[in-house]
Amino acid sequence: MKISIIGAGNVGSTLAFKILEEELADVVLVDINGDMAKGKALDLNDACGVLGSKKKAVGAGNYSEIRGSEVVVVTAGFARRPGMTREDLLIKNAGVIKEVAGKIKENAPQSIILMVTNPLDVTTYLALKVSGFDKKRVLGMAGVLDSARLSVIVSDELRREVSSVESLVLGTHGDSMVPLKNKISAGGRRLDELLEKAKIDELLEKAAGQGGRIVSYLKGGSAYYAPAISVYKMLEAIVNDRGSILPVSAYLEGEYNLRDVCLGVPARLGKGGIEEIVEVELTKEEEISLQKAGAVIKAGIAKVITAD
Ligand code: NAI
Ligand code: 2OP
Repeated sequence: MKISIIGAGNVGSTLAFKILEEELADVVLVDINGDMAKGKALDLNDACGVLGSKKKAVGAGNYSEIRGSEVVVVTAGFARRPGMTREDLLIKNAGVIKEVAGKIKENAPQSIILMVTNPLDVTTYLALKVSGFDKKRVLGMAGVLDSARLSVIVSDELRREVSSVESLVLGTHGDSMVPLKNKISAGGRRLDELLEKAKIDELLEKAAGQGGRIVSYLKGGSAYYAPAISVYKMLEAIVNDRGSILPVSAYLEGEYNLRDVCLGVPARLGKGGIEEIVEVELTKEEEISLQKAGAVIKAGIAKVITAD
């Protein structure tokens, strides 16, 4: 099993460490700064020595090493700085993704592409179109992270273990994220049985702002521990053919009444990538929010296409 990661920065290298530590696969790290990727691979291999992991890392500045990868994770590009939205990254990262997706198509045509680079839903769409891969083999990570952030905030408020809290965030990774309020529960009880509406709204707002809050503290970049672990959760579901249902950015062709757009929806993940898009029942309000999220992403896609 070989997993390649394009972009050996904060998210890419943290993810590489987790994959190697868990012995999920060998890892190839590719970065425009090839020496940095090579240096990190050496360091990771030394860490494997300490841990007793049998897996290996390789670092490179070109794509020949990614041949034969089952999954290619894309974290290449620019991260947010204070005051920037994920959408501000649009034009800068679109150029990076067009180049990277072309190289993946050339060197790992059978792989599954797992996108991380922001703005996530637009870059996922771009990777799908540039690679020409089947829609099942191109997906993006955001909903796992956004749902986890919400669960942590809810569990802190209720002073309960996070494992007893369930949350599901769909839509886009950004201000138009769509938390499914009725599906948030703690210990099997709906959140609106446990907290007032105003408090729930406050917690939802806090979860949506978590990425921005981290950016404003870090100043020179954005969150990477929770993002890397969220990608790992998706990889593990794919590699071990788990059939786990997770929120992922997927290409829609009529599901949830949306077409020709990538957006966060629940999906069953297994060896083939996205094995099924799961359509859960939405309230009228959630349906409207999801349509609005689709429109925001389509506007982003239009900007990238115009920039060609
Ligand atoms: P980073 O700046 O630490 O790493 C990015 C790496 O990409 C750098 O090492 C850079 O040299 C490399 N790179 C740039 N252009 C490249 C190219 N053309 N080819 C190959 N490598 C290239 O950034 P970080 O923190 O790892 O974030 C990476 C991306 O992931 C950002 O766009 C960030 O916004 C996004 N992100 C998305 C999340 C999500 O939930 N979807 C969560 C966290 C980050
Ligand atoms: C986050 O939400 C940067 O998108 C990334 O932290």
